[in-house]
Amino acid sequence: MESVRKTVLSGIQPSGVLTLGNYLGALKQWAQMQDDYLSLYMVADLHSITVRQEPAVLRRRISETYALLLACGIDPDRSIVFVQSQVPEHTQLSWIMNCITYVGELNRMTQFKDKSAKHADNVNAGLFTYPVLMASDILLYQAHCVPVGADQKQHVELTRDVATRFNNAYGETFVVPEPYIPKFGARIMSLQEPEKKMSKSDPNPNAFLLLTDDADTVVRKLRRAVTDCEGVIAYDPENRPGVSNLLTIYSVCANMSMEDAQKHFDGLGYGALKQETADAVNAVLDPIREEYARLLTDKAYLSERMKDGAEKASAIARKTIRKVYRKVGLDCMR
Ligand code: TYM
Repeated sequence: MESVRKTVLSGIQPSGVLTLGNYLGALKQWAQMQDDYLSLYMVADLHSITVRQEPAVLRRRISETYALLLACGIDPDRSIVFVQSQVPEHTQLSWIMNCITYVGELNRMTQFKDKSAKHADNVNAGLFTYPVLMASDILLYQAHCVPVGADQKQHVELTRDVATRFNNAYGETFVVPEPYIPKFGARIMSLQEPEKKMSKSDPNPNAFLLLTDDADTVVRKLRRAVTDCEGVIAYDPENRPGVSNLLTIYSVCANMSMEDAQKHFDGLGYGALKQETADAVNAVLDPIREEYARLLTDKAYLSERMKDGAEKASAIARKTIRKVYRKVGLDCMR
């Protein structure tokens, strides 16, 4: 059976506690895809050092992010769940793909432009070549599908371009992957400035919902969410970003279509929208918070699963590296 299943790979940076945006844009899909695909999910710790990290904090966040993935329903018995830096093939492939990728392509990456403006004192080469490492993460496992939020689409498109270029130059080597981006939830917006993406690095904590926020905090942050003065609950992200964002969060958390969600709130006010959205979010987060707290007390289990995940991932990655070395001509010691 294994050979007919397609492969899915995705990753998340351990740069703070994860947000509801991470969950709705990515993790929810990861959990749903586990049985239909050979699934690989990783904590992208090498990506996170493109901005400066405090080593002790990073070390803790890697374990916490790993625990949070499991708490979100990513099951290490059904998926390969691992930490990127524990699989050295990622950096090996990355160098080779660096030699396939054009500087002009990397210059067009909007995330590089945003991040270099935000961290103007540390525009390092890693920040620039970050999409090449991400392409290598995906290509290493011959992934067919990459479930991500909308902000990562450009990186997956670059991955397709460099994979195709490599295949054309050296013969069929890589599967050319497709992004998988959900119709609703792919871009959850800030609760305070709904024209901006919800991000864990936002200086205003009322702008984001963390997966670890307690139930009262969720209610309080959603009550304070910015809406508008029209008083009508309708989905119109261009002109009514605040209300549309709440409607999106509600519909995805309540597993309801956008059409049904709008009907549900017909004639109701923003107070009801905020309260019911908070209830729907809390229903999703309750089991996650509980399982996360439990997992954090079981460090031995987490390290065992990490080790197992890294070994399984490495076994697949090694095959690709061997093949790539051979194709490129780096195998003279055969
Ligand atoms: P990262 O860590 O920024 O985010 C992890 C996932 O969460 C999604 N996401 C959102 N979705 C909806 N609304 C939001 N507000 C929101 N914020 C974040 C992201 O789109 C992403 O899917 N480069 C990647 C990590 C990575 C990766 C990979 C992903 C490394 N290697 C290989 C896929 C394949 C990143 O920084 O994601």
